[in-house]
Formats: sequence, C-alpha cells, structure tokens
Amino acid sequence: MRMAVRDGSRLAFGSEGLKTVILLFTRLSFAEEVRRRTPVLALAPMQDVTDLPFWRLMARYGGPDLYYTEYFRVHVTSRLESWIRESVVSNPTGRPAIAQMIGNDIPSLVRTARELMQLPVAAIDLNLGCPAPIVYRKCAGGGLLREPAKVDAILGALREAVPIPLTVKTRLGFESPALFDTFLEIFARHDIDLLTVHARTVYEGYRSEVHYEYIARAVERLSCPVLANGNIYSAAKGASVIAQTQAAGLMIGRGAIRNPWIFEQIRAHLGGQPLVFPKGKDVLHYVRELFDATRPGDVKPEAQVEKMKKYMNFIGLGVDPTGQFLHQIRRSSSEVEFFSICQRFLDHEDPMPLEPFRLELGPRDVMAGEHL
Ligand SMILES: Cc1cc2nc3c(=O)[nH]c(=O)nc-3n(C[C@H](O)[C@H](O)[C@H](O)COP(=O)(O)O)c2cc1C
Repeated sequence: MRMAVRDGSRLAFGSEGLKTVILLFTRLSFAEEVRRRTPVLALAPMQDVTDLPFWRLMARYGGPDLYYTEYFRVHVTSRLESWIRESVVSNPTGRPAIAQMIGNDIPSLVRTARELMQLPVAAIDLNLGCPAPIVYRKCAGGGLLREPAKVDAILGALREAVPIPLTVKTRLGFESPALFDTFLEIFARHDIDLLTVHARTVYEGYRSEVHYEYIARAVERLSCPVLANGNIYSAAKGASVIAQTQAAGLMIGRGAIRNPWIFEQIRAHLGGQPLVFPKGKDVLHYVRELFDATRPGDVKPEAQVEKMKKYMNFIGLGVDPTGQFLHQIRRSSSEVEFFSICQRFLDHEDPMPLEPFRLELGPRDVMAGEHL
C-alpha cells in the first residue's frame, strides 16, 4: 500500500515498510533542507556509474545527502531514458534525487524539464561542464561555457518554466576562467537554487590541479548554496576545502567510487567523532557487493568482470602503491580470476589508505586520478 504524508511544505510518499521514500521539494523547502544539512554532501553525477544499483549501494555505506542522476541528453527528438525515470521513481536511498540534463535546445530543455516535474525529482540540474569533445563540439555541456548569451537564454527559459528547484553544475570556463564572473552574474540573475562548481576549466579535464579559490568567489557573489567539487578524496581534504571556500557543501565523485565510506568519514571528521577506517577485508567485501549489485540478471559473469574494470580504475588507486593490482585486474577475464586477484591484494586487516596512491597513470586512465 502506498501512502502520502504531507509534512509542512514537503510531500513524502512511502511504499509499505517505507522501502521507497520519495521527497518532493518546493524551492523554499529545498533551501531549508540544504541549510539544515549544511555542509551538504552530494554524490556527483557520473555517466555509467551513478545508476539506481550504485545509489542503493552507496546508501548502504551511509551515503550522501543528495544524489544526482548521470546526465541525459536532451534534443529535439529525445525522450527521457527509462533508466533515468526508474532511478528517480524508485529512488531507494530515502534522500533527494536531482535529475541532470545536458543540451542546448531551449524548447527541448523546457519540454523535458516539464516532464521531469511530473516525477519525484528534488531539482532539475543543467550540465555546463562535460568536457567530452562529442558533447562540447555540439555546444552542450562544457561547450556552453563559450556562449554566455545562450546560457542566459536557457536559464531564463528554464526558470520561467520550472517552479521547482533549478540547479547548475559548472566548470570555471572553457579554455580559461575569464568568463567565470559573467556566468556568476547569469546564475544570480536567474535565481538558481544551488550551484556546483567543478573548479577546473573544460580544457583541464580531470587531472589538473583544482582552483578552489574560484569556488570561494562563487560563494561570495551568489546568495544560493554552492557545492565545491573536484579531487575531494578524504575527510581531511573535504574539511580543508570547506574551510577555504566556505561552500555550503561538497560534491564527491571518484572518491566515493574508491571509498564509499567517505561520506560517513566526512561527517565524523566534521563532528569531531572518530573516523571509520575500513580494512582491506572491508574493501574486498565492497568489491563483491559492487559486482553483485551492478550486475543485471541476464549478464554473464565474464561481461560483469569487464564492467567492473571501470569501477576498479578508481578503487585500484587505494589498493597498492605499485599499480600491480590494477595491472592484473585489467588482464583478468573470468570471475574466479578477478576475485582471486582481489583476494590476494585485499584479504587483510590493514586499514585502506585515506588518500589514493599516486600511481603512474596511462592514457586510458583519463578520468582516474588527480596527478598528471
Ligand atoms: C566516470 C565519470 C563520469 C562522469 N559523468 C558526469 C555526468 O554525467 N555529469 C556531470 O556533470 N559530471 C560528470 N562527471 C564529472 C563528475 O561529476 C565530477 O565533476 C568530477 O569527476 C570531479 O569530481 P571528483 O574529483 O570528486 O571525481 C563524471 C566524472 C567521471 C569520473
């Protein structure tokens, strides 16, 4: 039996046993929720990673306060993908879910935003950061950071069409941060409800240093909450980024794939509580859970081993400093071989490192690590 409970400005639906709790927010109650949770911890949107099974697993490890869907492309003939719809409708985390759109066609973005409003999304997010050439060449994602007038028009149309919270995730600029202040003015003009800043330019990809000083500038200039994003790999780093930027919260991507305990560790660190230090055995257990959780029923174990290699690029940075673990995992082809390598490297009681190792990264590791 489904039930609906009205709780002030918040409407909560729950299925029996409260396995599914869906929170809908007005702009006011979203602002209140963010304020109440400050510093808010968000799981970053990540293509092919942050799907429903991954959200469910993160929630079991304590999880973030906010979940983002991976981006979905919006254009003239696009329709909302079924797995995005499924993620927000069946969101099992008990926490708000934000749906992220990428595109530049205003009528299509407005149409999709209206469609999303019929679903239990806490907010609708616009991606202004994707650095993939196939996206930015079409002037979407990070490509829009070359076109302030277009972004102005898109946000104006969305703000008019969307009475629910509207959020933006941006980088600092395309080739340089020269237009960052112009974009901040645009975000302020359209009264967005939350801004996330991944403090790199599009050109800088995923591995350059992160320019947190621009996040501090966004915090100073905007009245909406700002989330800091980029290379937050440990509780200590999270605390120092909050101190440096005064951001309302942190968005964490790769660090959460490597270390799903990170959200609980940050909460403990900021609350002056002792940190959980997962051991090798705990990481081994997490890898097993990830394997099972993200394996669709009809997928053969060998295909799942291939899928796991994507996650292992991040997890491997916390396993051994020589890179041997990743080297062997990348060559594994069966479930038995995969787990015997994991067992060899992880079946121990030593704590996992809080910071990732500085492994030598190859061209295939384009998104993997922090170091050039
Ligand atoms: C595998 C992967 C997929 C990503 N997909 C998206 C996406 O769909 N939308 C988005 O806004 N950012 C995406 N990003 C960027 C992340 O959200 C985040 O901004 C970036 O990884 C920096 O944060 P981190 O250092 O905590 O990982 C992706 C990053 C990775 C590693």
